[in-house]
Amino acid sequence: MADPANIVWHKTTITKADREARNGHKGAVIWFTGLSGSGKSTLANRVESLLFASGIRTYLLDGDNIRSGLNRDLGFSEADRKENIRRISEVAGLFVDSNAIVLTAFISPFKEDRAAARTRVGNHEFFEIYVKCPLSVCESRDPKGLYKKARKGEIKNFTGIGSAYEAPESPELVIDTSEETVEESAQKVIRLLEKSGIIKENIGQQDPAKGGNGGNGL
Ligand SMILES: Nc1ncnc2c1ncn2[C@@H]1O[C@H](COP(=O)(O)OP(=O)(O)O)[C@@H](O)[C@H]1O
Ligand SMILES: [Mg+2]
Repeated sequence: MADPANIVWHKTTITKADREARNGHKGAVIWFTGLSGSGKSTLANRVESLLFASGIRTYLLDGDNIRSGLNRDLGFSEADRKENIRRISEVAGLFVDSNAIVLTAFISPFKEDRAAARTRVGNHEFFEIYVKCPLSVCESRDPKGLYKKARKGEIKNFTGIGSAYEAPESPELVIDTSEETVEESAQKVIRLLEKSGIIKENIGQQDPAKGGNGGNGL
């Protein structure tokens, strides 16, 4: 590891404020956490589509996609899960600096790791969304067939079965996907971003399938 005393942050000419002024919205991380099959990816994709249709700069970081590249050297031990989240937080932080609204869809089962992600990104730019759904419902959905494998003992440390999920205590938003539709949930996330001043009001109404308004949400 490099000696931190020899690493000096180089301030960039173009600042975060410059990017905000150009794009008309702030950067933020929308951190979806919840059991496998709770609906993190489904919801993150829907929210991203709504934002994108309104001209907002977005990027979605999703579990398996990151694990197949940047984090392919990591497994599912506690130490590896921690390192997984640490790297994702760093990447998300860079994207926020680039003025993007980053949506992350990782189980991220441990409170301590999510708290560290919040610290890395900055509290006012970090929105923790607890995608709540009973284990029995997640298991009946089993979109990737992973619960079935975990029950057969083919996957060790599977969250909810062989490994704990620590529910958030004070997330910015709780969404119960066993009670509400994807559309209702997505609108709640959009409203949260509006209320928090990350994006201007009244965006996210367009249907991305119809191409949106092409504007920047102002
Ligand atoms: N209200 C809802 N919100 C999100 N997903 C839902 C909802 N109702 C049913 N589903 C289904 O549940 C599954 C969730 O899978 P996914 O989004 O991949 O979960 P995760 O990313 O949390 O592992 C999908 O098949 C989705 O269609
Ligand atoms: Mg997913």
